[in-house]
Amino acid sequence: MKLTPKQYDRLLQYRIAVDDMIKGNFDLLLNPDTDDPVGKLGNSLIELGRKLKTQSQYIETITQLVEKINAGFTTSDILNHIFESFRPYIPYDRIGFSRINEENQTVTALWCRSYSDNVKLDVGYEARLANSTLQDIITTGQPRILNDLEEYLAKNPSSKSTRLIIEEGMRSSLTCPLIVEKKPIGFLFFSSCKPLTYANTHTELFMQLAGIISVTIEKAILYERLMELNELKNKFLGMTVHDLRNPIAIIKGFLDLLLLQDNSDYYTKVFDHIRGQADKMLSLIGDLLDITAIEAGKINIQKKQENIIDVVNDSVKTNRLISMGKNIEIQVDLPLDLPDVYIDKARIYQVMDNLISNAVKFSESGTVITIKVYLKDKSVCVSVSDQGQGIPQSDLPKLFQPFSRIGVRPTGGEKSTGLGLAIVKKIIDLHNGSIEVESQPGIGTMVTFCLPALKM
Ligand SMILES: Nc1ncnc2c1ncn2[C@@H]1O[C@H](COP(=O)(O)OP(=O)(O)OP(=O)(O)O)[C@@H](O)[C@H]1O
Ligand SMILES: [Mg+2]
Repeated sequence: MKLTPKQYDRLLQYRIAVDDMIKGNFDLLLNPDTDDPVGKLGNSLIELGRKLKTQSQYIETITQLVEKINAGFTTSDILNHIFESFRPYIPYDRIGFSRINEENQTVTALWCRSYSDNVKLDVGYEARLANSTLQDIITTGQPRILNDLEEYLAKNPSSKSTRLIIEEGMRSSLTCPLIVEKKPIGFLFFSSCKPLTYANTHTELFMQLAGIISVTIEKAILYERLMELNELKNKFLGMTVHDLRNPIAIIKGFLDLLLLQDNSDYYTKVFDHIRGQADKMLSLIGDLLDITAIEAGKINIQKKQENIIDVVNDSVKTNRLISMGKNIEIQVDLPLDLPDVYIDKARIYQVMDNLISNAVKFSESGTVITIKVYLKDKSVCVSVSDQGQGIPQSDLPKLFQPFSRIGVRPTGGEKSTGLGLAIVKKIIDLHNGSIEVESQPGIGTMVTFCLPALKM
């Protein structure tokens, strides 16, 4: 077929339209208005544009819904997001969420939100799963539509839940199963005050999102359970550790008393040894109490305007006594003038003490530790560098986790629980500061923390 100049122009127009579609613009301004093959091609292009536009709007909707669902943190966050954003796609006046209890094969209502003030089927409502219609929904894995609840109740007068939501004013329902890795975990119940509300399009939309909704809800439930268990663990640990502290302090007190009375060489040595062990236990207990208090958000921080140099000097003084025993020198480089910081002195002392004691603990005899204090941007920074064993790159991310004892071991048999840096990090966070570790095996380690400086 030979093209007329008009047909040729149209084809050029169609090519521009296709390029537009590739860019995501589906509203084609074509006017094929002829019945020849070129005109037919134009009509097909317009139809294709329409279809693609619907599809892309649909994908956008689904993406927005998935974002909403993912934005939730707790189960009720997620369900509230669903309640607030699903209405344009699935109509409802009420949404309920019930969880399957595998052990006793029951279903319990854990959350519901309704436009009706008269909630009858409330949180805590429990029903048996075996031989129920919910069991059938699980078996098919497909949502169930009941578009006339009154008629359903007339046929199934023993359905207590149907009676309750009818009393709330609901007339139709869409019950959706939530399934994670083939395991049913619960149901989402959409209900509407009007009969004949639900259609297959709603079921289809739900099925597109069912996987992500189910997994997100299940994750949130597990997360909440984990938080509960963590709280329980903290409480238990806090109690035990607290109760341990007194008896050990008493043993230590009696040892001191015995030492005063008997100063024969042999006993002095033995008692010193026992006292050293008791000191280690007390310090471990102190650390455990700190980490549990910090995790439970109950650490007591009392900040005041202070000069950090005093804290650094105090801590260096104490640690020099220990470092001298290992023939490790501590050099200090302090500025002449430094702005104050807003800190809890005792806690920042704890930070310094851990960093210097780590440097001493993981270094060999004859090496040097350098402590520098300086102003950088608007922060007061302290760095503690050593010429010790260094830390492998792959271990660096683990350093601030509790009990993070990694391959690097103390050189003089010192205590190493792996709590020090976890506490340090939390204390620095509570001061709105930052902390970094740079290290090279065989060369040394430098830990630097920075705290916001107050105006000079
Ligand atoms: N300066 C350092 N050089 C080499 N390794 C280090 C240094 N500081 C920390 N580490 C490594 O990081 C781990 C964690 O340090 P952290 O201070 O938390 O625990 P710890 O010193 O072993 O015990 P604790 O501080 O509870 O007495 C250490 O066990 C050690 O393996
Ligand atoms: Mg330490």
